[in-house]
Amino acid sequence: MKRSVIAVEKISKTYGSGESAVHAIKEATFEIFSGETVALLGPSGSGKTTLITMIGCITEPSGGKLTLNGSLVYDQKWYINDTRKIRRENIGFIFQSHNLIPFLNVQDNVTLIPLMNRVSSKESLEHAQELLEYLGVGDKLDKFPSQLSGGQSQRVAIARSLANNPKIILADEPTAALDSERALSVMELLRKLAQEQDVAIVVVTHDERMLPLFDRILRVEDGVVREEH
Ligand SMILES: Nc1ncnc2c1ncn2[C@@H]1O[C@H](COP(=O)(O)OP(=O)(O)OP(=O)(O)O)[C@@H](O)[C@H]1O
Ligand SMILES: [Mg+2]
Repeated sequence: MKRSVIAVEKISKTYGSGESAVHAIKEATFEIFSGETVALLGPSGSGKTTLITMIGCITEPSGGKLTLNGSLVYDQKWYINDTRKIRRENIGFIFQSHNLIPFLNVQDNVTLIPLMNRVSSKESLEHAQELLEYLGVGDKLDKFPSQLSGGQSQRVAIARSLANNPKIILADEPTAALDSERALSVMELLRKLAQEQDVAIVVVTHDERMLPLFDRILRVEDGVVREEH
């Protein structure tokens, strides 16, 4: 059974006000289900980052409604006291550049959030090892980000985004810093995750070559989101 994990209803975002207002997202409505891989595609400045960071509770919407895993999160205002907590517990975020913490080694980067969520250090470490193994960087536990290649860093960042067992993974151009072969293998990995672990994956991409790897495509143009058939 597919569960609705992201439900967006007439969500909008306007930056600024008056003459300088930018209507970055205009009343977008769509739903994403468990196990789905969805691409957000659109030109630069069309509103993709705005949309994905609203879903990730990083950017506050200007209006509309957002429901994650069946819980109302935003309806004209936040329905939760702590948006960081909802992120920590429900969402894995992968950014364009990997955003690993430079002074922590790979192991500590990956176990940080589970430890903050009060998972035991033994369990956090075992899970981190398992994820890094799965992602093909199992031998890098004690390395620092500066000692990794771009592709390895991005794999570690993916392991980190999975460490809290999220049912939602949001990725903003996760493969932008990679060559096309590595980019494809990172995307294939995300797809495998969606299928094997029933995770919903939303990926912002510019790259049309990636599109066959997605179940659905949402096109964003000038703040308007529409399903591509
Ligand atoms: N913090 C902000 N303040 C004011 N305007 C913003 C802000 N963030 C984004 N915008 C504007 O909102 C619109 C959408 O920006 P957004 O970053 O969502 O686009 P994008 O589709 O992610 O672009 P790109 O592909 O270049 O990353 C743009 O016109 C941008 O200038
Ligand atoms: Mg962007």
